[in-house]
Formats: sequence, structure tokens, C-alpha cells
Amino acid sequence: MNKIRAAIFGASGMVGQRFVSMLQDHPQIELIAAYSSDRSRGRRLEDIWKLPEITLSEDTASMKLEKLSINDAVKKRIEIAFGALPADLAKQVEIEAASAGLAIFSNASAYRMEADVPILIPEINFDHLGIVDLQRENREFKGFIVTNANCSVTGLAVALKPLVDRYSFSDVHVSTYQAISGAGYPGIPSLDINANCFPFIKNEEEKMNREARKILGEYNGKDIVPRDIEVWPHCVRVPSRDGHLEAVSISIEGEQPTLEEVVKTFSSFTGMPQKLRLPSAPEKPVIVRREDDRPQPLLDAMAGSPARARGMAVSVGRIRVDRNLLRFFCLVHNTIRGGAGDSVLNAECAIHEGKI
Ligand SMILES: NC(=O)c1ccc[n+]([C@@H]2O[C@H](COP(=O)([O-])OP(=O)(O)OC[C@H]3O[C@@H](n4cnc5c(N)ncnc54)[C@H](OP(=O)(O)O)[C@@H]3O)[C@@H](O)[C@H]2O)c1
Repeated sequence: MNKIRAAIFGASGMVGQRFVSMLQDHPQIELIAAYSSDRSRGRRLEDIWKLPEITLSEDTASMKLEKLSINDAVKKRIEIAFGALPADLAKQVEIEAASAGLAIFSNASAYRMEADVPILIPEINFDHLGIVDLQRENREFKGFIVTNANCSVTGLAVALKPLVDRYSFSDVHVSTYQAISGAGYPGIPSLDINANCFPFIKNEEEKMNREARKILGEYNGKDIVPRDIEVWPHCVRVPSRDGHLEAVSISIEGEQPTLEEVVKTFSSFTGMPQKLRLPSAPEKPVIVRREDDRPQPLLDAMAGSPARARGMAVSVGRIRVDRNLLRFFCLVHNTIRGGAGDSVLNAECAIHEGKI
């Protein structure tokens, strides 16, 4: 099979580099162009590389960053663009690219809450992908835009999905411990974050609530109807490098759950990407840790197998049931499952569904 020609918009950033690492040997997708700003133009990927655990192939290492241009992408016959741009820039670029016929898989928040744009986490809402057909009617796009969620809501939503399918509850209280890489490169000045915590991340708490409602909502063929749930977050930046840890508390309505039942509910959860055996799907989207002191960002952020799906599983641990109060921690790799990895999996879903 001929591989699908892809580009990365914002390839030099924290999410962009994760895209490079996931695409360099992808079985269905070929990385043709790595775009960034004029500042990085002409630099080789190996010269800007910030992910010490990933080895670049010779070809990828020597690939040069190019100045972002939709015309150039069209000339290069790019079919998929993976978006890792700041939201204000994405707002203008992604619409232009979708109009020009590209399928955009975006990490930016610019279009997430538009009625005809899905926030796709395919283990949860594979069917929401269908709404991209309405974009072609509504907007006269030749391509389409699929977004993935804010990084902290991704971990929370994956952990919530098996629970909402089994239990009844309306409020979710969550405190986050979010890694520095979530702020992009170079992020927060080291003197401000070293040995410190920031109890404020702009717009993050609002995003967690509204995006969770949409992700867990129902697609009726015309609209995505948000789920009737409220998320009450405290978002905090902490001095870990990768991986957002989250402390979650939920009051379950009705019969009290048992600990073993909750463990089974989490660990037996799978979705369409697993059923379809998509290349970047983790065998288990939720991994339950039974140790007292897990999950930890340093040990568990890269959870997930097979090798291509490292960082794609959400780890859940310290599950406690106290009368009707369920408490647990979850951990998501913010630039893989909460970023580039989810977009790549979304593209694999779109390829499977014949949308590309
Ligand atoms: N970090 C996370 O955990 C995470 C998770 C989910 C979603 N997101 C979202 O993903 C997007 C990227 O985040 P990030 O953390 O990767 O940010 P980042 O490290 O700051 O990277 C931004 C990228 O955008 C490029 N860029 C900036 N201005 C540009 C311009 N005028 N023209 C072309 N390219 C330009 C940069 O190129 P230069 O290097 O040349 O400046 C860089 O490649 C953001 O919308 C963010 O909110 C981030």
C-alpha cells in the first residue's frame, strides 16, 4: 500500500517532536514535510531535538525544518497535516489548510468547541468522527478538521469513560499536577518552576469542564449533545518533565461500588481502536496500578504496549472506595496520549473509515 503523505505544522515544538517520533517509521503514513516558523527554517531535526529517549533514523534526523506554507504543502501533495501550533495561529492556518483539501489532526484549542468539529479520543467517541462529513457541507471544506483534547482532560476522560458507562454520577472533582512540557518549549523559566508549584494555568480549568462534556457526549448524526456532567478542577503546574497526574473524587449515586468491581471496570475497558488493532492503539487504554505509590510521572508516563503505543495508556492507581465516594489518581503522558499520539491514532481511525 502507498503510504499517505503527511506534514507536521509546528514540528519543532514539544508536541511537534512527538509527532516526528511517532511518524518516522509509521506503517501507513509518511512524513514528507516538517514545518515551523521562519526562526527555525533550515535547521535539521537532529539540531533542535529535545527528546533524549527517542533515536531518530538517519533520514529523519537530517530532515530540514521549512517555513510553514499551505501552498507548499499543496504542492507537495500532502494529504494529512498534524497540527501542533499555538491556538491563535492554528485558528487561521487550519481553516486555510482544510479549505485547500488537507485533513487536519490538530492539538490546538482553536476549533475544539465548534459544533461540527469533533474532539476525538477514539476509545471514547469513535462515532464522533462522522461529524466531519457535515464540515464539508457547512463550510465547503475539501478537507476537514479533527481535534484532540486538552492534555489534562484527555487523561481524565479516558479514566471516566468506563465509569460513566457503569455508574451514575454528575460531579467530578479533580486536582491536577501538570508537567512543565505541557507549557510548550521553553515553557516556564526554570527559576520560577524549580522547587515550586504554580496554582494557575490560564484557561485550563474551563477547558477541562467544557471539553469533558463534549468528549463524553452523544453524537446523534447531526449534533454532539454534551453529557450532563460537571468537572470541578484545580489545575497546578509542578516541576515534573512529562506526564500530568490527576487526583479524582466522584460521589457515586445509588448502590455503593466495591473496590474489585471498580478495578475490573477500569482494566476491562477497551474501544474501537483496540478492536480494529490500529497501529498506535495501546492494548489496554487504562492500566491499573495496585502499588501504594503509583502511578508516578517518572515511572508511568510512558505506559502502553506494543512499542508503538508507549505513552498511549492512561495509568490509574490508589483506587479507594469509601461509602459512595470513589477516589483515584490517573496519569496521562501530556504530549503523547494528551497530544501527538492521540492525533496519530485519530488519523489511523480516519484512514480506516475511508475519510482520507
Ligand atoms: N505541550 C502539551 O502538553 C500539549 C498537549 C496538548 C495540546 N497542546 C497544544 O499543542 C500546540 C503546540 O504546543 P507545544 O507545547 O508543542 O508548543 P511549542 O513547544 O511552543 O511549539 C510551538 C510550535 O509552533 C511553531 N510556531 C510558532 N509560531 C509560528 C509561526 N508564526 N509560524 C509557523 N510556526 C510557528 C513553533 O516553531 P518555532 O520553533 O520555529 O518557533 C513550534 O514548532 C498548542 O496549541 C498547545 O496548546 C500542547
